[in-house]
Amino acid sequence: MTESELIAAARTAAAQSYSPYSSFPVGAALLFDDGSVVTGTNIENASYGLGLCAETVAVGRAMADGKRGGLVQVAVTGPGAEPITPCGRCRQVLNELAQLGGTDPEVLCVGPDAVNRVKLSALLPHAFGPASLV
Ligand code: THU
Repeated sequence: MTESELIAAARTAAAQSYSPYSSFPVGAALLFDDGSVVTGTNIENASYGLGLCAETVAVGRAMADGKRGGLVQVAVTGPGAEPITPCGRCRQVLNELAQLGGTDPEVLCVGPDAVNRVKLSALLPHAFGPASLV
């Protein structure tokens, strides 16, 4: 799975976005160490505050499939003019899955003209996670 393929998977996921309120479709693609990819997209709600972000949907899907770590790379795509960056809640949600397997995934923040590559630990320094409870 190349970086471009992972980004393409995120863009494909974003095509299924349910975002009638923001008109801001987001896609996320999670790459695991076994080569598998799990995607998600944002799902909004008429009760606005209940919307789900793409990254959170992807993590939920992955964990429902039994994933408990092995997260090596994440691609996030949005419609904006600048590379999108995961929201704070999604950083925390991604951290849970990453920390379970002891990885520090690279997050590809994708824009129309550029890709910012940032480690999750840089997006969420001093993270609180499962290891904090033991
Ligand atoms: N959104 C995501 O899906 N991921 C993020 O990291 C940032 C924001 C969604 C939430 C909402 O549906 C729309 O983008 C506008 O905020």
